[in-house]
Amino acid sequence: MGLAPLWRLRSSPKADVVPEPRPAGHRAEVVPATRHARVDPAGQISTPKPQERPVVQRPAPAPVTEKSAPPARAPAPASPQQTTPDPLRSARIAGLDWAGLEDEIRACRACRLCEKRRQAVPGVGDRSASWMLVGEGPGADEDRLGEPFVGQAGKLLDNMLGALGMTRAHQVFIANAVKCRPPHNRTPEADEIAACLPFLQRQIELVQPGLLIALGRPAAQALLDTGISIGAARGKRFERQGVPVVVTYHPAYLLRNPQDKGKAWEDLCFARGLVSPE
Ligand code: URA
Repeated sequence: MGLAPLWRLRSSPKADVVPEPRPAGHRAEVVPATRHARVDPAGQISTPKPQERPVVQRPAPAPVTEKSAPPARAPAPASPQQTTPDPLRSARIAGLDWAGLEDEIRACRACRLCEKRRQAVPGVGDRSASWMLVGEGPGADEDRLGEPFVGQAGKLLDNMLGALGMTRAHQVFIANAVKCRPPHNRTPEADEIAACLPFLQRQIELVQPGLLIALGRPAAQALLDTGISIGAARGKRFERQGVPVVVTYHPAYLLRNPQDKGKAWEDLCFARGLVSPE
């Protein structure tokens, strides 16, 4: 894949702590970095919990084809037929266990993305992971196979994780901001991300990761509830409900812009400096 020279270990860059990019009261916060720390919703800082036996959710093996990287896009504005938030639905999802959550995701018809999907793609990985990675949404391969990041971008992601000694089966849980494929791989709209957020929120609550990594702008929007550019957000420690959040480039962007792979590696080293995946 031509990655080897770019994914060598080197020291992480200095934490760049910046002010909150959104008004007070907003969910996204930027706070000083704490090495290897986990911050609980009450604000208590502790070291990451010991790893439990990983439970890896995988669909039946099937041939993997490569997905061509989608073109660079800004988040699309919400369409006229917006999906409106349903507090009762969110409250119900907040009480689901893993099995109930995945059933609910697979049966979901809360937004227009259900109309064109082949199947919903809940997530994959270690349910006791210290790192949770959040992508944008399934592409064609993921829609067909039911697992996130199985195309070309996924191979790059696996290489990046491998350079840190991690695999998607161990220490990492991978989810997407939206669980159904946006038609033609378009960027998910704001109301689609909002409609899917209770699922992501419940996944975060169940995994209880020590660190969240937003892969690309829609993921950052989902986790931080703010539209930020990746260039501006990189190298900073944000928080979502007490959990540190690091923002980096989406692997599909890196396939189109290989000159930025080094920056993504810096971001992962920065993340490792905040919360060690071990
Ligand atoms: N891109 C994403 O954001 N998620 C996937 O699952 C696949 C490609």
